[in-house]
Amino acid sequence: MPTYQIKVNGASQTVNVSEDTPLLWVLRDHLDLVGTKYGCGIGQCGACTVHVDGVAMRSCSLTPAQVDGKSITTIEGLSENGNHPVQEAWKEVDVPQCGYCQAGQIMTASAFLENNPNPTEEDVKNAMHGNICRCASYTRIRKAVMIAAD
Ligand code: FES
Repeated sequence: MPTYQIKVNGASQTVNVSEDTPLLWVLRDHLDLVGTKYGCGIGQCGACTVHVDGVAMRSCSLTPAQVDGKSITTIEGLSENGNHPVQEAWKEVDVPQCGYCQAGQIMTASAFLENNPNPTEEDVKNAMHGNICRCASYTRIRKAVMIAAD
């Protein structure tokens, strides 16, 4: 099997996986980083969102070759103690219901705010609309993103 070098949450990792193994499963099955969730597997729900060189991307739709040599951040590496401003806002608003999609939501929101520190509510709505929440916590999600932006 081919070998790939990726940096995950600041640590260099060498992984030997087949070339069609999605990054999602490299993270979950090979590196035990199970905070990144499987929802649809076809890039449609956002549950598997991670940062690749600071850009929010869907790990279910990335091959190892596409991330070889890149720096990945998962929900486990977003902050030292769950105290990233987005995570703090999530707690303040008590966003999650079932919680399944929340890591992906937070990773999308944090990458968005990195590039858009003063968004309008419309900006937030547009940025987050591709992350699906089956509990429909969308109002709380948008509120938390606006609080994190303050
Ligand atoms: Fe990747 Fe749904 S599991 S977008």
